[in-house]
Amino acid sequence: MRGRAAVFAAVLVVFLVACTAAAAAAAITISRKHQHRPASGAAAKAACDVFAAGSWVVDESYPLYDSATCPFIRAEFDCRRYGRPDKEYLKYRWQPSPPCSTPRFDGVALLRMWSGKKVMFVGDSLALNQYESLLCMLHAAAPNARTTVTPASEKVDPLTTARFEEFNVTIVYYLTHYLVDIVNEKAGRVLKLDAIDQARNWLGADVLVFDSWHWWPRSGPTQPWDYIQEGNTVVKDMDRTEAFSKALNTWARWVDANLLQTNTRVFFQGISPSHYRLNI
Ligand SMILES: *[C@@H]1O[C@H](CO)[C@@H](O)[C@H](O)[C@H]1NC(C)=O
Repeated sequence: MRGRAAVFAAVLVVFLVACTAAAAAAAITISRKHQHRPASGAAAKAACDVFAAGSWVVDESYPLYDSATCPFIRAEFDCRRYGRPDKEYLKYRWQPSPPCSTPRFDGVALLRMWSGKKVMFVGDSLALNQYESLLCMLHAAAPNARTTVTPASEKVDPLTTARFEEFNVTIVYYLTHYLVDIVNEKAGRVLKLDAIDQARNWLGADVLVFDSWHWWPRSGPTQPWDYIQEGNTVVKDMDRTEAFSKALNTWARWVDANLLQTNTRVFFQGISPSHYRLNI
């Protein structure tokens, strides 16, 4: 996958976030389709995988937004509002190893570049965190831009859309903890390792940023399924790493079958640590 990754610097925004910033450091790009070849001169840059090597550096000009004035950040992600006293964690920026580099984040330029496009985060609370951070960064760069969020409720809907109207940019969050389907059946809630029907909701996005893992080890009351199914085999439980791996293969096959021939850019983020008390 390395070497095939001529990556939009813009998508680096997914790294520049609040409390769980470091968790995203492990993000990898899995864009596997034939990459557009840049003209000569950009050739050295093209060899850069900005995700593969680098470090988090302190940038005194950060943060790029103030959570207190961002209308998009939900309460529980607003660490300062809930009394986190330190601020240094807000100043980290991902710095690819030389000669690779990324331009400084420019929200207005990004909104212009994304005109007419749909950018979609698909996954658990890490994806939600990245989605809200991106909205905050864009809002800070274009505070007077008209935005519409649907649905307007504060609760986490399975599908939430924010539009920057003048720029014609649509940013979507799709909630799914496992990427593959959970189906309510007579016996109970079945986690289907080889079914990903919900993915039809992701078609048509220009950029797709996925994540999963955090919910896979869960058991007890916070486990939202009763059985695991693969093919015709239904089990009460199995090795969770193995289950995750099977589900990721289902997901990757879907990506290959549906996105390889499109211009959609696909990213897979790293793993989110526990971010509530009680280790959930
Ligand atoms: C907004 O983008 C969509 C999708 O590319 C396009 O169909 C539509 O015409 C655009 N609207 C405006 C007002 O430019």
